[in-house]
Amino acid sequence: MTLHIFDTVEALSQAAAVLIAAKVLEKPDCVLGLATGSTPVPTYEKLIEMNRAGAIDFSRVTTYNLDEYCRLPEEHEQSYHRFMKDHLFDHINICPENTHVPDGNAADPDAEGIAYDAAIAAAGGIDLQLLGIGRNGHIAFNEPCDRFIWHCHAVKLAESTIQANKRFFDSEDQVPRMALSLGIGSIMAARQVLLLATGEEKAEAVKALVTGDVTPMVPASILRHHPNTVILCDKAAASLL
Ligand code: F6R
Repeated sequence: MTLHIFDTVEALSQAAAVLIAAKVLEKPDCVLGLATGSTPVPTYEKLIEMNRAGAIDFSRVTTYNLDEYCRLPEEHEQSYHRFMKDHLFDHINICPENTHVPDGNAADPDAEGIAYDAAIAAAGGIDLQLLGIGRNGHIAFNEPCDRFIWHCHAVKLAESTIQANKRFFDSEDQVPRMALSLGIGSIMAARQVLLLATGEEKAEAVKALVTGDVTPMVPASILRHHPNTVILCDKAAASLL
């Protein structure tokens, strides 16, 4: 695991975008694992700029997103389907049919999870997995728990996640309580992991990830066993190291 600390979110996002662009240049038909949330937004902006400038070509890239809220229509402005279109897919030359987000409205979430894991495996696995980190150490929506859950699964969101994500909704009541999330297994199977953490509200989680025990109570801590993980933090997120 390597850790880089940046003075600004701008510098961190530039570095993250360069690492993703390097993967696409090295392997034009690569499979990217993508995240939603506030943290990757400036990185996506840089990727859009690079694509518009002709520096990277997404036409052969395939993407799989980490998660989606359950029982939120895909067109809802806070769905992760919508988020990815608004913040990335609608602005780059990616083929829409090559982009994948779990179906949070699937009648049978277990079957959807099995199909999603199988689709990733059939695509050859994830070459580069982009991650944010929750204030409680979650990655995707793998919340603190008594065990690591390996497969794509439906998950009840932790209270701290509901509190953190209510900023995106008109009221706390509207925050979905369940999500469909990639499991720890697919994240650990990614050939490279790139975790971004910005802001002081992530400092405790980053400290636990970097210096604490490997435990399902801090799901991100499993990355200490991943052979190729790069963590990019701004100074605030790294302030307790
Ligand atoms: C998003 C995801 C989550 C977020 C995390 C941090 O797809 O899987 O794990 O990365 O909740 O969210 P932000 O970046 O909004 O602080």
